[in-house]
Amino acid sequence: MDWFIRDFDHPAYFTIYADKVADAAMEGPALVAMLDLPAGSQVLDLPCGWGRLNPHLRAQGLKVIGGDLSPLNLAKHRASHPIPLVRLDFRALPFRAACVDGVFCAFTSWGYFATEQENLRQLTEFARVVRRHGVLLLDLAGRAFLQAAMTAVEGEWLEFAEEGYRECARWSPDGRRILTERSCQGEPFCHDIWIPTDAEVRSFLDAAGFSVSDAYGGLDGRPWDEGAERWIYRAIKR
Ligand SMILES: C[S@@+](CC[C@H](N)C(=O)[O-])C[C@H]1O[C@@H](n2cnc3c(N)ncnc32)[C@H](O)[C@@H]1O
Repeated sequence: MDWFIRDFDHPAYFTIYADKVADAAMEGPALVAMLDLPAGSQVLDLPCGWGRLNPHLRAQGLKVIGGDLSPLNLAKHRASHPIPLVRLDFRALPFRAACVDGVFCAFTSWGYFATEQENLRQLTEFARVVRRHGVLLLDLAGRAFLQAAMTAVEGEWLEFAEEGYRECARWSPDGRRILTERSCQGEPFCHDIWIPTDAEVRSFLDAAGFSVSDAYGGLDGRPWDEGAERWIYRAIKR
């Protein structure tokens, strides 16, 4: 089974990422401002997860449909933010072509697939459903920042006792992906995420039919830079 089917669809996911609940208060308004679509625009929140950013999208007056692969996340989302929600896989979106004004893709939700074709497919599906001149906001972790952050701890098991899990991260032998093993609630988990270079992000966006209009290096809207913790791309469908 692909890691992302099971790892996100397990109660432990909400324990491991508990801090993202509080982060939403800062991330939501900032990312919605970078999406920069007028009130009334139709937006797909892909993936929507458990809906932690949904109130901020709606506060901007956006009409939001959420989509995610995880039934557990969708159930949690439905319980707290009952908007239209669809269970889906990025590789085959169940929407008509050009039916929305924007796609909002927050918190490192690209690069999960094992092959470049599938990772490109996610972006071409986003491009297919966005109208011409519509917007994709793609919020990724900066590769150089991760490289620097992992230097001292790569391959070591770190304890997060208060949060209730331990983890060990390492680069794949070809240096393209980060494999993060975790142990939580007595069970093993392993994220396996492609961490692209800036040139790769831009070339994949271009190949999918998007042109980057803005690139940010932080939630405060600072310009993109190589060492930034977040690489946030606003791209326009050609
Ligand atoms: C890191 S979370 C981000 C969720 C949300 N954007 C947020 O900021 O809270 C990644 C999400 O991607 C979903 N996901 C993973 N693989 C997927 C796929 N192939 N198709 C659709 N959603 C997927 C997971 O279920 C999970 O909810």
